Amino acid sequence: MINLNNKTALVTGAAVGIGRATAIVLARNGARLVLIDINYKKLEEVKKEVEEYTKDVLIFKCDVSDEEGVNDIVKKALKAFGSIDILVNNAALWRCWDSFLNTSVEAWKKFIDVNIMGVVYCCRAVLPKMLENKWGRIINVSSVAGVYGNTNMVHYSTTKGAVNLFTKALAKEVTSEGVLVNSVCPGSVSPAENSDIDYTQESELSFMGRTGSDRENANLICFLAGDEASYISGQNIQIDGCRRKM
Ligand SMILES: NC(=O)c1ccc[n+]([C@@H]2O[C@H](COP(=O)([O-])OP(=O)(O)OC[C@H]3O[C@@H](n4cnc5c(N)ncnc54)[C@H](O)[C@@H]3O)[C@@H](O)[C@H]2O)c1
Repeated sequence: MINLNNKTALVTGAAVGIGRATAIVLARNGARLVLIDINYKKLEEVKKEVEEYTKDVLIFKCDVSDEEGVNDIVKKALKAFGSIDILVNNAALWRCWDSFLNTSVEAWKKFIDVNIMGVVYCCRAVLPKMLENKWGRIINVSSVAGVYGNTNMVHYSTTKGAVNLFTKALAKEVTSEGVLVNSVCPGSVSPAENSDIDYTQESELSFMGRTGSDRENANLICFLAGDEASYISGQNIQIDGCRRKM
């Protein structure tokens, strides 16, 4: 177990997939939760699931690319819980495959707004209190696409590459103040629609011959959120079953 008692974690994109599994695993390890998603109906279901472990759960419908909305939620959460100690920037757009020339400028702007600016807004909102407390954990959910670059996902790959460098650069500014910043780069993860957080499928993309599960990703995020990860900052950690090819 990771001891997250008396810690509050904000998880974006928490309604399904890695975000939902992260909420469950963080709660099982003692954290209070602030969960954000554009899908409020699914978020209500996650709230019920995590209430088995904690009653301190706030859920909010919010688009992370809405700076005012993010700031408002962080204010409310700080009022309710006193601090946000852990931020998991998980929300992103990614289910979109097309050639570079077929990808519209509007799509590029939307991906940049959600996948990059959403991370920026959430970090700007929570960092002042983390710095005041001299303790914080920021974990950005990136992708192997941001390391290798995926064909027919040029815009997505670009945003995740940006998140990886954002992680390294921000870590250099705040690590000495007690705020550790890392990103996790999942390979292929089984479909988020599946309610079983241990679900995996066969995959030729990893030497393990399978996809990763939502829970495996959540376990890594939870480890990085705890005191046990006290000497890790500025890292992009791949969780991909030993990636074979893109
Ligand atoms: N699933 C994979 O194979 C895989 C691989 C590599 C990286 N990732 C990354 O993992 C993260 C989670 O992906 P997933 O596949 O588990 O979930 P997903 O893509 O199925 O769902 C993401 C969640 O984020 C929410 N969301 C989307 N846009 C939002 C916005 N603007 N504001 C707030 N919430 C928003 C969605 O409603 C959804 O609940 C993403 O950052 C993704 O890029 C996933």
